[in-house]
Amino acid sequence: MPVVISFVSTKGGVGKTTVAANLGGLLAAFGMKVLEIDADVQPSLSRFFPVHYRSPRGLTAVVTSGGNPSGDCISRTIFSNLDLIYSDTADAGLQSWLNRREDRLMIMRRAMRSPVLESYDVVLIDTQGAVGELQKSAAMAADYMVSPVKPDALSAGEFASGTVAMLDELNRLSDFGASFRSGDLFVLINAHERTVNARVLTQTLRAQFGAGPRVRVLDTVVPSAAAYAGAAMSRIPVHEFDRRRSFPRSAWNVMHALAWELFPALTGRYADGSHGVPSHEVRNRAPLERVA
Ligand SMILES: Nc1ncnc2c1ncn2[C@@H]1O[C@H](COP(=O)(O)OP(=O)(O)OP(=O)(O)O)[C@@H](O)[C@H]1O
Ligand SMILES: [Mg+2]
Repeated sequence: MPVVISFVSTKGGVGKTTVAANLGGLLAAFGMKVLEIDADVQPSLSRFFPVHYRSPRGLTAVVTSGGNPSGDCISRTIFSNLDLIYSDTADAGLQSWLNRREDRLMIMRRAMRSPVLESYDVVLIDTQGAVGELQKSAAMAADYMVSPVKPDALSAGEFASGTVAMLDELNRLSDFGASFRSGDLFVLINAHERTVNARVLTQTLRAQFGAGPRVRVLDTVVPSAAAYAGAAMSRIPVHEFDRRRSFPRSAWNVMHALAWELFPALTGRYADGSHGVPSHEVRNRAPLERVA
């Protein structure tokens, strides 16, 4: 069974698609078999990387099959090991379809167990920055969730009142038993500017959620950098766009740190096949526990 990570936030524009796409690109370069699912009705992830095989169907078929997708839902990007289920609904039709289904929260989770997905090591699900049934279904499918937060007051406030509230609601609904629990949520500080404000907000988030049992702030911080938009324009993973090894905040180093934090077994391995001793800070991290 693949490890499933859903990218969620009730706020838009915080970097879900950017991080999901680039993490997928890096993990695929490591040789992991990666499937990216665009579960946003605005299909940004679907267009992020060039596709060399476009399947006849996409997300709609996955959802409306009740989570029993057929193999013809999977497209292939030009990068080896990196496949895609594209978003193909231009409107809220899928959300209202889900609204009518009693098992709506479990549909994406069921899809993750489908034989069609069996060969993948990792599935990354991108969602829309709003509250909706599709987002909740994606959250329930996840072994864990990553929620990028920009360190500004609005984003941090929205994270606490919106995203954490959604997680709490799901877990209340899931009180039936452990197997019905939504995954743990990891906050990723994204687009961090080198300002006092950003530093203070990051510290506040760490103090507020640092040690929580269900919500944790990742050690890796993604700086604000032009490389993220640049790579998206060039349609290549950002670790290929900004490959500076000697600059600690380069996209190459930051994306590796993020991959190592999420997948500790990869620590010290680089996408170009080389190995390196990770920094002290990285080595001392406690591995993330995967939700059973
Ligand atoms: N670390 C970063 N540094 C600079 N710009 C960034 C960074 N991460 C994301 N961006 C930019 O921020 C914008 C929003 O990012 P993105 O589309 O990934 O957010 P999103 O959470 O997926 O938004 P939505 O909720 O609308 O789907 C994009 O223009 C992206 O290039
Ligand atoms: Mg997005």
